[in-house]
Amino acid sequence: MAVLKLYTYPDNILRQKCHKVTKVDDELRRFLDDMLETMYVDKGVGLAAPQVGSDKRIIVIDPNPSDEDLSARQPMYLINPEIIWRSDETVMFCEGCLSLPNQSAEVERHEKIRVHYTDYHGKEQEILAEDFLAIILQHEIDHLDGILYIDHLSRLKRSRLLKKLEKYYEDKARETSNEK
Ligand code: NI
Repeated sequence: MAVLKLYTYPDNILRQKCHKVTKVDDELRRFLDDMLETMYVDKGVGLAAPQVGSDKRIIVIDPNPSDEDLSARQPMYLINPEIIWRSDETVMFCEGCLSLPNQSAEVERHEKIRVHYTDYHGKEQEILAEDFLAIILQHEIDHLDGILYIDHLSRLKRSRLLKKLEKYYEDKARETSNEK
């Protein structure tokens, strides 16, 4: 397995609309494994293809990405995931994203969703997800349509967050140049 390059805001690749996968083969499975490895290394609970520079409709998630107890991990691979039902009830949850490092904000999501997808072995599946799992899935499936969680924020909250992100990038760049 390999750790893939992670693309961050404002890279245009994060704004592309991804294409449906037509064939689940070993090459795709290898890529899914690499995505999962990248997600664990970067300490995320989900990762979508655009974040590693791919335009395929695939996501990997793990609501319990434990480092200490590897057997507690619950990795899921979803190919062509599609939300086919959403509850009227919504929840607010503080979300972050590996592509917007060091930032977070409260986002409103559907409390429960039903998702249709193709699994690692090419089999059609359906899952009823709620709470944390439902939130992760909505966040990651958004990525496949070029949507970031900041798009769900008010203009004011979004611009505040992006200013903080810019500052974070500047501080990091300064740190790196000081080390040289
Ligand atoms: Ni994200």
